[in-house]
Amino acid sequence: MAEQRRIALVTGCGKPDGIGAAIARRLSADGHVVVVVDIEATGVRDSHEPADSVAQDWRGVESLVAELEAAGGAASSVTGDISVESDAERIIAHAVDRHGGLDILVNNAGAPFSLGHGDIAEVDAGEFDRVMAINVRGTFLMGQAAARVMRPRKWGRIINIASVAGRQGSRLNSAYAASKAGVIALAQTWALDLGPDGITANAVLPGFIFTTRTLSAMSKKAGGADIDRTAAVKSAPNIPVGRPGSPEDVAATVAFLASDHAAFTNGQSLIVDGGSLRL
Ligand SMILES: NC(=O)c1ccc[n+]([C@@H]2O[C@H](COP(=O)([O-])OP(=O)(O)OC[C@H]3O[C@@H](n4cnc5c(N)ncnc54)[C@H](O)[C@@H]3O)[C@@H](O)[C@H]2O)c1
Repeated sequence: MAEQRRIALVTGCGKPDGIGAAIARRLSADGHVVVVVDIEATGVRDSHEPADSVAQDWRGVESLVAELEAAGGAASSVTGDISVESDAERIIAHAVDRHGGLDILVNNAGAPFSLGHGDIAEVDAGEFDRVMAINVRGTFLMGQAAARVMRPRKWGRIINIASVAGRQGSRLNSAYAASKAGVIALAQTWALDLGPDGITANAVLPGFIFTTRTLSAMSKKAGGADIDRTAAVKSAPNIPVGRPGSPEDVAATVAFLASDHAAFTNGQSLIVDGGSLRL
C-alpha cells in the first residue's frame, strides 16, 4: 500500500553529507513534503572539521531544498536555534503556515561532538550546559511545539536521533552521553503521553556513521593524519557487518518509523550500528 503524503520536518540538515540531509532526501523520495532546518543555513562546523570539507557552492538548507525540488519533491527551509523556545515555536509554525500542518518530526540536530569533550576532571561546566541545552532542551522544545500541532490531527510520528552513547556511555564525553540518554527518555515519555492521540515517539541510536564530522574527529585523534574511508573501515574491526554505517542506513530506519507500517512501534530505541551493541 502506498504511503500517504505527509508533512515532515527534519532538524540539523545544513551539511551535505550529514545524517539530517540523508533523512530529508529519503523522506522526500518517499513522497513526503519536507521542511529542512538548521541553526545556520550551512550548519555549525565542529572545531576539528576543516573549512574546505564542504563544496564552495553549497548553500546549506537552501541547496538541499533546491535539490529536493529538482528531484520532484516539495520542500522548504527555515533557520533557527532549537534550544530557544521562540525559535522552536517559529520553526514548527513555519511548517503549519507554509504546508498546512505537521505529521512527522525528526529531531536530528545535535551539539558539536567536541563541545564538552574531555576528561571528567577538566570539562567546562558551561560547555556541559550548552550540550544539554541543544540536545535535551532543544529536542524537548521541538517535541512540545510539534505535539500541539499533531494532537488535533490524531496522527503523528516523532523520531529522536539519539546515539548508542546514550545506552552505553562514551569515553571522555559525559555531556554527550548524558544528553543522548535524555533524548531516549524523551521519546519513551512521549510514547506514553502522546500514544493515545495516535502519535508515536521513538529513538534511533546510531553507532559509528560516516560523516565529515566523524572522519575529521578520527583524523584529529590520529594527530591530523589524513583519514579516508578505507582507513576508517580498518579502524572499525568490531562492527559485525564489517563496515561503519552511512547516513542512508540511519535514514532507512527513520523512514520505517515515520511510516504507517510502524504504527505499533512506540517508545522504542532502534540501534543502527551494524551489530556492535546487541540489546
Ligand atoms: N555521525 C555519527 O557517527 C553519529 C553517531 C550517533 C549519533 N549521531 C547523531 O546524529 C545527529 C546528526 O549528526 P551528524 O553526524 O550528521 O552531524 P552534523 O554535525 O552534520 O549534524 C548536526 C547538525 O545540527 C545542527 N545544530 C547544532 N546545534 C543546533 C541548534 N541549536 N539548532 C538547530 N540546529 C543545530 C548543526 O548545525 C549540524 O548541521 C546528531 O544528533 C548526532 O549526535 C551521529
